[in-house]
Amino acid sequence: MKVEFYKHSLSQTDKENCLQVLDSLFLTTGKVVEEFERKFAKFLGVKYAIGTNSCTNSLIMALKCIGVKAGDEVITSPMSFVATSNAIEQVGAKPIFVDVSDETGIIKETEIEKAITPKTKAIIPVHLYGQMCDMKKVKEIADKHKLKIIEDACHCIEGKREGYGVGELGDFACFSFYATKNLTCGEGGCVVTNNLEYANWLKKARIHGINKNAFQRHDKNDYVHYEMEFLGFKFNMNNIQASLLINQIDNLLGNLQIREAICKVYDEAFDDHPLIAIPDVKKGSRHARHIYTIWVSPVYRDEFLTELKKAGIGCAVNYRAIHLMQYYAEKYGYDYDDFPIAEAIGDSTITLPLYPSLTDNEIKYVIQKVDEIAFRLAKKYE
Ligand SMILES: Cc1ncc(COP(=O)(O)O)c(C=O)c1O
Repeated sequence: MKVEFYKHSLSQTDKENCLQVLDSLFLTTGKVVEEFERKFAKFLGVKYAIGTNSCTNSLIMALKCIGVKAGDEVITSPMSFVATSNAIEQVGAKPIFVDVSDETGIIKETEIEKAITPKTKAIIPVHLYGQMCDMKKVKEIADKHKLKIIEDACHCIEGKREGYGVGELGDFACFSFYATKNLTCGEGGCVVTNNLEYANWLKKARIHGINKNAFQRHDKNDYVHYEMEFLGFKFNMNNIQASLLINQIDNLLGNLQIREAICKVYDEAFDDHPLIAIPDVKKGSRHARHIYTIWVSPVYRDEFLTELKKAGIGCAVNYRAIHLMQYYAEKYGYDYDDFPIAEAIGDSTITLPLYPSLTDNEIKYVIQKVDEIAFRLAKKYE
């Protein structure tokens, strides 16, 4: 049996929407992107959404938007994809890691305050696996120290915590529409904000800092020049990407229900398992169920991955701790024991297949193989 790690759920409607764009004049940023932005902002309950080409570039723009620069510090989690801290590096600032909870893998909100220095400008909380950080707590700390919040919401479009959704308490929230995300167009991203001044800046920043993109110029009867107001980027989303996303928004909550049902079956199998641990879901949290991760012994985690691959089961590691990646370890001298919980999770985590089209048989097969491999490896290393 072969169980893919991920299969997208693009529908016939998504494909037809895409064909319509391909048959139209405007492939680049235009009306379709605007439609996506309106619909996505409405889904989240935020004022402005700015379509981009990735979450990484959305994070970079958000950091630039609030003036983060060389010499500044930004607090974030060592248990994330490297993109989160890379964005901080890209604007010349220093990522300051705060260790994570051993129950959830999410940054320990209560420890953030201890990492604040006069150089700190912002916090990037990461809503890991699909579970939101305690944003009320993060906001309380940010407000007290006059810091900005940029949420890394790549895993968490559908998440909520104590009634708040992503992007509601942060100054910005950044999203990815990468190939394996709950909402995908292969590659793409978005940054949302409730601040009009930020939104206006971001709209120009994503297209070189110019004040009229090609569509806005084309739409006029007279020839209109654009002005370049400041040094921006080339991070705009195009109509092809947007066409694939628009209709998927309607299916987000339905697909979440399907993933919730799959996670329930996984949870029943692994909750009381003697060799496997699973992250907690906190009370008051609506988990977006983006990634289903199990934690196994670091002694045989890598062998476990190979065994799963051999059994035809797609798997991944989300994530090895960022500070131990060669670049960060060499640049900042990080080693084991600097952020022990992130390290322990990074060395024990395995992500299992999770997507709406996963069949009952596939789920059963994954559970059976995980259980078999766990006992086999535990015996080998006892
Ligand atoms: C937590 C997290 N942050 C950032 C990113 C980067 O997103 P993108 O590939 O769209 O730049 C990802 C993508 O995998 C992610 O999972």
